Parts: sequence; C-alpha cells; structure tokens
Amino acid sequence: MADTSVVKRTYPWQTAINGVEISFRLMEPSDREKILAFAHALPDHDLLFLRTDVTDPKVIDEWIENLKRGRTITIMAENGDELLGYASLHHNEVLWTRHVGEIRVLLKPDLRGFGLGKIMANEVFAIAKDMGLQKVMVQMTTDQRGARGMVESLGFRPEALLADFVMGRDGRTYDLLIMSYDVTGFSDTADTRPRR
Ligand SMILES: CC(C)(COP(=O)(O)OP(=O)(O)OC[C@H]1O[C@@H](n2cnc3c(N)ncnc32)[C@H](O)[C@@H]1OP(=O)(O)O)[C@@H](O)C(=O)NCCC(=O)NCCS
Repeated sequence: MADTSVVKRTYPWQTAINGVEISFRLMEPSDREKILAFAHALPDHDLLFLRTDVTDPKVIDEWIENLKRGRTITIMAENGDELLGYASLHHNEVLWTRHVGEIRVLLKPDLRGFGLGKIMANEVFAIAKDMGLQKVMVQMTTDQRGARGMVESLGFRPEALLADFVMGRDGRTYDLLIMSYDVTGFSDTADTRPRR
C-alpha cells in the first residue's frame, strides 16, 4: 500500500476536459505495469528529457518504494482504464531540503494543451500545502515550454538557471531551469478544481 496518510483531499474525483471524461485517483503499487506501458508509448522528445527513466522497471520499483514510504505522492488521470497522465510530489524528510517539494507532471501528448496539466500540477501543489511544505519547485530544460507555461500560470517564478546540468538520452547537455513557488503564500482561491 502507498502511504497517503498525509493526503487530506478526497479521491477519486471526476471532470470532463475537451469532451474526455477524466477520473483522478492516487497511484498504488499495483499500477506498476500501467505506468511502464504509458512510459513506453511516450514520444522521443519526452523520452529525451525524462528526469528519471520511467521506461526502466527498476526506476518504477524505486518510485513504488517511495510511494510506500510516503516520500512520493502520485495522482493519476484516467479515462476508464486508460492512463492519460500523472503528477507527482516528491519530498524527503531527512534532507536539509525537507521543507521543499518537487512536482513532476507528464501527460499523454494528445491530452496536452487543454488545461489538464494545470489541474494536475495544482492537485499536487495543494497536497504540498496540506503537508506543510514551504516551497515547491519544478525542474525543466529551457525548451520544455509546456512545463514552463503550466507552472507560470500557477504563479511559479524562475529560481535558477544551471548551465549544462541536464544530460539527455542523446548524451548532449542542456540548461536546467528551476521554477519555484512559496507555498506559505499560497491561497485557496488558486484551486483549479471545478466547483460544483
Ligand atoms: C507540461 C505538461 C504537463 C503541461 O500540461 P498541459 O495540459 O499541456 O498544460 P495546460 O493545458 O494545463 O496549460 C497550462 C498553461 O501552460 C500554457 N502552456 C501549455 N503548453 C504550452 C506551451 N507549449 N508553450 C507555452 N505555454 C504553454 C497554457 O497556455 C496554460 O496557460 P494559461 O493557464 O495561462 O492559459 C505537458 O505539456 C507535458 O506532459 N509535457 C511533457 C512533460 C513535461 O515537460 N513535464 C514537465 C516536467 S514537470
């Protein structure tokens, strides 16, 4: 079982985006094969810049260990049984960055640009706030424009630009952009869940 004891928000919940019914729920260890199949269907450009190689079963096993330890919380977006994307919040209570969370979001390409990424980033952002994390960051390469647009629209600001810090699958290096947000200043009015 994943340790989701810190999550106060209720799951599952549903919405429709661009005519697609979408259900959000917390990831469980039993989702291992589903995540692997999702990763293997990603386009080359996404695979080039994966923060960790989610096509590798060993990486998914470590992810699942982190779910069980409560160090990673992942929200999955599904249409029926099909995985459309996920958003994760990573933190580590034994590091000096224990007050900082990191968000990662990855969607199926044909579902991008309809607001789903922003909803999912906001879900894990709200969980970070509930957990008492004080700062949330997102790492991206400078050409991951969707990621930058998504977090800018949530109020994140550039924190650092680190030259040649990312090595893509192609063996080339790219600049790493870190965007961050002070959660302590976060307002509930930024909640993007549709109101019913
Ligand atoms: C990053 C990602 C999750 C964004 O999800 P998305 O559903 O496409 O984004 P949204 O439609 O919610 O867009 C959110 C905002 O970003 C902007 N945006 C989205 N894609 C953009 C792009 N390519 N260029 C510029 N802005 C963009 C939108 O205009 C929107 O701004 P608004 O709220 O002010 O209108 C998605 O593109 C993705 O999975 N990319 C590949 C993986 C990746 O780069 N992950 C980032 C690591 S955290």
